Amino acid sequence: MSKKTVLVSGGAGFIGSHVTVELTQAGYDVVIADNFSNCDETNYKGVCAILGKELPLIRMDFCDKAAVEDLFAKYPIDAVIHFAAFKAVGESVDEPLKYYRNNLLSFINILDVARQKGCNVLFSSSATVYGQTDQLPVTEKSPRQPAESPYGNTKTMCEDILRDSVKAYPGVRGIALRYFNPIGAHPSALIGELPRGVPNNLVPFITQTAIGKRACLSVFGNDYPTPDGTCQRDFIDIVDLAKAHVCAVTRMCENKMKQEYEIFNVGTGRPLSVLELINAFEKVNNLKLNWKYAPRRPGDVVAIWADPTLAEQELGWKAERSIEETLAAAWAWEKRLAGK
Ligand code: UD1
Repeated sequence: MSKKTVLVSGGAGFIGSHVTVELTQAGYDVVIADNFSNCDETNYKGVCAILGKELPLIRMDFCDKAAVEDLFAKYPIDAVIHFAAFKAVGESVDEPLKYYRNNLLSFINILDVARQKGCNVLFSSSATVYGQTDQLPVTEKSPRQPAESPYGNTKTMCEDILRDSVKAYPGVRGIALRYFNPIGAHPSALIGELPRGVPNNLVPFITQTAIGKRACLSVFGNDYPTPDGTCQRDFIDIVDLAKAHVCAVTRMCENKMKQEYEIFNVGTGRPLSVLELINAFEKVNNLKLNWKYAPRRPGDVVAIWADPTLAEQELGWKAERSIEETLAAAWAWEKRLAGK
């Protein structure tokens, strides 16, 4: 097989940087494009350090159609993985048009150019499309629920835009990967999550509390109908998650798709409560975390975890890293950021 080129939009971000590493190590040429609206060059530099080489980096905004056309003219792109999007749930409620404009337009631009070139497209979707569900674990056939936020709605809408595009335009194939809760960092501690300001997500808040950047973690809700009263999630290691992308891109590039548009859950299949995650973090890293119970956070679902069977059968992928490895990596990354 000749070497294939993959464009990673948002390749300097948390998920994009880990995917870039795994793709390159699997033998793909990767072109990173990012507008650095929500990250700096830390992860890009970390990627180059892990791989021992400089990767092409294009500073651009995917809302700029001419820039997208130029990019596709310059590189022989076989597949695109689209991460470049805004992702703060709360901000999306306050500024819906900012989210709809950016997240939809950038994807439409990519699809518009990809259809002319005959290019495979992988969309980074989210378990958020399942909403509050009582069928657990969720399979890809579980119904989607109306989104709780404009951010969540952009995920649902982009899935539909991809589905309709592959139906209408010969030459475009698409896969949507529905991520559960990606956490952790690369084992090298050279790339990881870099939230701006106060983190919204659980694990960055935990590691920032442990390092002393935050005084106390609030656990949102202890009266949920779950075994210990806290929410349950499917926390998926970021390196495992990145490897699912390599399997999906290979499936597209080697014409192994069974349908023009396919959807896969990317999760472990293992529910873990917020409290269980905190306990595991304390134990594996041998420390005590300052935390307290706080009221429920509006918009949170009680419990969600994946049935990852389809990904295992069709992509030959399954999560391998233990929660202990993942939480140790998250802590090593936070310590490295703090220079400890
Ligand atoms: C959130 C988004 C989801 C997005 C994902 C990206 C919502 C409703 N969903 O998922 O769309 O794809 O992030 O990673 O926002 N928690 C605390 N204290 C904290 C932070 C979180 O107790 O300081 C709890 C939450 O209540 C939740 C769990 O930890 O029960 C996980 O929260 P989080 O990491 O924010 O992820 P999700 O809300 O599941």
